[in-house]
Amino acid sequence: MSLSLNESLNQILREAFLAAGYDPKYGTVTVSNRPDLCEYQCNGALSAAKEYHTAPFVIAENVAAKLSENPAFSEAVSVRPGFINLTLSPAFLTRFAADMAVLDGFGAEKPEKKTIIIDYGGPNVAKPLHIGHLRTAIIGESVKRILRFMGHEVIGDIHLGDWGLQFGLIIEELKDRRPELCYFDPSYQGEYPEEAPFTLSELEEIYPAASARSKTDEAFLQRAHERTFLLQHEDAASVALWKHIMALSVPDEKKLYDQLDVHFELWNGESTAAPFVPEVVETVKEKGLARLSEGALIVDVMEESDKREVPPCIILKSDGAALYQTTDLGTLIMRMRDYRPDEIIYVTDKRQELHFTQVFRVAKKAGIVPEETALVHIGYGTMNGKDGKPFKTRAGGVMRLEVLISEVEDAVREKMKERYEDEDLNEETVKQVALAAIKYGDLSNQAAKDYNFDIDRFASFEGNTGPYILYTIVRIRSIIRKAEAMLSETPDFTALTDASGNLKALLLSLAGFTDMIRTAASELAPHKICAYIYQLSDIFNSFYHDTPILKEEDPAKKQAYLELLSLTERVLSASIDLLGFSAPDRM
Ligand code: ARG
Repeated sequence: MSLSLNESLNQILREAFLAAGYDPKYGTVTVSNRPDLCEYQCNGALSAAKEYHTAPFVIAENVAAKLSENPAFSEAVSVRPGFINLTLSPAFLTRFAADMAVLDGFGAEKPEKKTIIIDYGGPNVAKPLHIGHLRTAIIGESVKRILRFMGHEVIGDIHLGDWGLQFGLIIEELKDRRPELCYFDPSYQGEYPEEAPFTLSELEEIYPAASARSKTDEAFLQRAHERTFLLQHEDAASVALWKHIMALSVPDEKKLYDQLDVHFELWNGESTAAPFVPEVVETVKEKGLARLSEGALIVDVMEESDKREVPPCIILKSDGAALYQTTDLGTLIMRMRDYRPDEIIYVTDKRQELHFTQVFRVAKKAGIVPEETALVHIGYGTMNGKDGKPFKTRAGGVMRLEVLISEVEDAVREKMKERYEDEDLNEETVKQVALAAIKYGDLSNQAAKDYNFDIDRFASFEGNTGPYILYTIVRIRSIIRKAEAMLSETPDFTALTDASGNLKALLLSLAGFTDMIRTAASELAPHKICAYIYQLSDIFNSFYHDTPILKEEDPAKKQAYLELLSLTERVLSASIDLLGFSAPDRM
């Protein structure tokens, strides 16, 4: 059994239109745009008027007459020029809540199960994670959890940038600094050492130095390109150094992702796809898609309907080197072979849109990915500083992710000091609240939009923030703790059938969960969850403010209140889990 408030109401309206002698297709409801008058409305009579050459108000009246006895509504009335205003009955909502409370996933309808790969994270190995890596991690993790909640098999792949020029740069810089190392001795025959000849912090210093040098020293850059080519063609010394860099860098990144509660099933990367590059080249040649242009092998992907120029996709550069798009195509060959996914979702900065347009088109044209497999790119906007300008450290550099996290933790700690006694100031809680501040601050914006990262606002316990949602959950848990024994396995809300005001609003808001989550999943839109839980939290807090729950004298009512709190807590906790964070027990 699945639950949908919208679908249930549509069903009732369709039947009423039919019973009144009209086509049921006109029976659809929308949330009321006059919440002062009603909760839902049906505008179908206005469209039906044309077909039946009847005044819309007459149709609305006839349909409303069929609804007057319906137990779902406490009021169903026609108003001019032809709306049907609907007010749900508390009995209908308490029944709905009782079903929600016992059904798996609160009764959200599960679509047909798909296998989905989600490609997110994608840091380039050898440089520390910085704020540019934050959005893909946060959005990707949330989308993954949402799709899993809907019952899909979802595999997250980090797709490391582990095969590019940065390795050529690092290795050549190292060669200049430490020419005596065996990796640089052409006559060396032995095994390469297991220990890396550098530490992680040396590596983190070497890379930016090499990168800066390459901007002015052209000969050096040329050497780095040649070294990258050697690495990609399995030169033993280069591969040995590559392995050292990976072994130091990847576990360090993993630690930070763990701290963000972001977890990948696969730690593949561009290098994993490298063995498939020859097959990419063969396939595009075989299909007659490839042509040579100034020595490079390219595939035209422009389509007639394109309003803008879509340049050809370069498969191999004139020196024979594979590019970012080539390894992405190789990765697709591998993913189709290993998982036969129904859908692959990529989460990157929206500036990579052209790249994915090119890759997707080549993949489909070349038959690397069958027509029925969906390739989706979620392109997100830029995270700016509080002033709307690119987010920078005080010194003007790119801020490391660790630094950002600790700055948010500092802000949260300060706010908590204002509110709590010292003994409640637990560092684990600070971390948990800071993570909620960061993730909610990001996810509450539509992904494609730019947003301003405002530490002070995100860490606030009031307003549309992560800490406010956590605070609401913690508050509910603390009330429930005082009366836990009263909760039952199969909650009964019939004592609330006289609900009005904030209590009714709370029931109505809870009933909206299943429709909300279906939309969030089909639109890959975590911000819908944020908007929903913010509204639910607000309604709950108003209800709590004017209802002395634990002092309620009618035991049936008191129990129903507690059950309702418990359901609210469960819906909020499940929702934040889908956003990728969790609530402490106290804060
Ligand atoms: N490493 C890339 C970057 O830093 C992101 C990888 C995204 N995933 C992909 N399959 N291209 O821009």
